[in-house]
Amino acid sequence: MAAVPPPPEIHRSVLTYRRGLYGKIALLLVAVSILLYALHAPAGGIANGGTWVGYLLGTIGLALIVWLGWFGIRRRQYGPKMFLLEEWLSAHVYLGLALVVTATLHTAFRFGWNVHTLAYGLMVVVILSGAFGLYAFRRYPAAMTKNRNGTPYKSLIEAIVALDFECRELAMSFDDETAALVYQATCTLPAFRFRDLSSRERVSPTLEAPARAAIARLRALVGKTYSADQANVMPLVQALTNRALAVARLRRDQRYRVLMQIWRVIHLPLTVGLLVALGIHVLAVFYFW
Ligand code: HEM
Repeated sequence: MAAVPPPPEIHRSVLTYRRGLYGKIALLLVAVSILLYALHAPAGGIANGGTWVGYLLGTIGLALIVWLGWFGIRRRQYGPKMFLLEEWLSAHVYLGLALVVTATLHTAFRFGWNVHTLAYGLMVVVILSGAFGLYAFRRYPAAMTKNRNGTPYKSLIEAIVALDFECRELAMSFDDETAALVYQATCTLPAFRFRDLSSRERVSPTLEAPARAAIARLRALVGKTYSADQANVMPLVQALTNRALAVARLRRDQRYRVLMQIWRVIHLPLTVGLLVALGIHVLAVFYFW
């Protein structure tokens, strides 16, 4: 899996940028949207997207979505610009969240199996994925550094490889069956498993099956008359345990990396899908006017 580049500075002060100016603007937008919706008395008493308030909220929502989507282009543009990326992202996050209220009131809670609700559903998924992305960028980089004790990813792999050699060398003074079990416990680098993504599936330092089998065998040998005694067994058990701890750290690191990639794989393509669905929604509205 390709390494995720370290997140740029822009994620640190997203929520507090300019003392939360964009949070306040978003709150204002939410308040105005709610007021408009609440105070409006539509003809026939039925609120919908086709009243003047519905059109106004819809136009604001459309403009916001196009502008939010533009961020994908803006963040790939280099050179001096009027607004820093940091500022863009702060506004992106707050106004993206406010959009839920504005767009929901535009729909007037009228949902069905049609392209209009499809556009709305896509918008909600994009916003939810954005919220997860924000959480991931604020939490995971620090958690990854802590998990690796500040060492780079490469060092974690190197530590496991070194422990593999140590275990196999120590195993040479044992019988064939024990050596084979130790070999099995150390012959592959841990690959990513999808079940590690679940937070319920603890990526904990509990021993994985091959290491557990090797250690059980070593424990069984202690006290037996043949060569193995406590002095021989303990260093090998210790090395296998250290490897298990390093493997657990590696799996946790892989989990963070994959989660950070998954959210982007959802957020960006669904934005494109949303823009297409939104275009069809607008065309359909004007076609059937
Ligand atoms: C309909 C609403 C939204 C649209 C259309 C949208 C669209 C986008 C696009 C196109 C990007 C650039 C992705 C890339 O280039 O890889 C982006 C990035 C991002 N968005 Fe959204 N977004 C929306 C809502 C949100 C919300 C509500 C949040 C947070 C609560 C959010 C958080 C983020 C974050 C953290 C990034 C990543 C910035 C980075 O990679 O540096 N988005 N969004």
